[in-house]
Amino acid sequence: MDYLCLAQPGIRSLCAYDPGHDLVALRAAHAGKLIELGSNESPLGIAPGVLDAITATLPEIHRYPDPRGGALKAALAREHGVASEQIILGNGSHELLMLLAQVFAGRDAGVLAAQFGFAVYALAAKAANAPLRQTPALLREQAMAHGHDLQAMATGVDAGIRLVYLCNPNNPTGTWYSGDAFAQFLAALPADVLVVVDEAYREYVTAPEYVSASTWLGRDPRVIVTGTFSKAHALAGLRVGYALAAPGLIAVLERARESFNVNALGLAAAEASLAAPAHIAQVRARNAGQRQWLTDQLRARGLFVYPSQTNFVLVEFGPHAAQIEAGLLARGIVLRPMAGYGLPRCLRISLGSADDHARLVAVLDAVLAQQGGR
Ligand SMILES: Cc1ncc(COP(=O)(O)O)c(C=O)c1O
Repeated sequence: MDYLCLAQPGIRSLCAYDPGHDLVALRAAHAGKLIELGSNESPLGIAPGVLDAITATLPEIHRYPDPRGGALKAALAREHGVASEQIILGNGSHELLMLLAQVFAGRDAGVLAAQFGFAVYALAAKAANAPLRQTPALLREQAMAHGHDLQAMATGVDAGIRLVYLCNPNNPTGTWYSGDAFAQFLAALPADVLVVVDEAYREYVTAPEYVSASTWLGRDPRVIVTGTFSKAHALAGLRVGYALAAPGLIAVLERARESFNVNALGLAAAEASLAAPAHIAQVRARNAGQRQWLTDQLRARGLFVYPSQTNFVLVEFGPHAAQIEAGLLARGIVLRPMAGYGLPRCLRISLGSADDHARLVAVLDAVLAQQGGR
């Protein structure tokens, strides 16, 4: 039977999300010595109190979780200065990015995203059978942002577009735009177009001109902000994300949310993590230090490193990027190939520990020397 033929048109043209390498097989092959710098996870671990919160939840694991996630929403409401009615929880923010397109996009309601934006936006549009338009990114020489061309995106919004996805700072480029640039973008946007700002990496930002789009909540009914506990909070394995928006918009999203989408351990862990702001401040500071160290090391080797406000850096390795990536992998270091994003000369390096980086740089020197000798 040709099942693809039976699928909706959007699904027929959709390529499933590529999670990178088979890490389970690689871990087994490298017997605990694998250095994993491919998935933008936190090497700095969970906040104090999180493990206790998880353990305290275990005796009740035979029960369904709180379908409303009331306690976590209350903690998020305090954190972001919004009402609980302005929050929806997701099984990771990936789920909410998909849900937003499912609810608001479709055959006559298109999606706009940036070239080199996070891969899930295109998936979300296609799964919703919505036309997808991608605005070319700024070339690296053109602007500080090196990523989203917000002016071109605003111009690209016509009557066919219902939903815009922005990512700030952006994965996979690490680049960001300022609060002023976003204000100008909103001023040029039609009244009935919704804009999703994916802030999965917000906690890592140190640039003073960056302003979270949550500042516009309550002032602009079109703005939706997504966040995650998978990155700075180091809870990727428990799958908890959230979106913030106007109460009416959240109520519409809630119609299509799966009833028990966030598990009980995730709810408890995320709530406990929000109660430890000093840990997140430490994560931000240590990440910024490692980001600078690795950037300096790579630039000293003549490589172009995109400026980053995240927990990873995008690096141009040139025409031999794939061979360099394979050479590192053979020596137990996992990076993320970028060919799938249309950036075949680049590799993305998630920030790890100081030891990980020292090993990476040493192995890279050996691999680059081998390349040079070819
Ligand atoms: C920009 C961005 N948004 C969203 C996500 C999804 O995160 P999660 O589903 O773990 O919350 C990721 C994951 O890497 C990401 O890079």
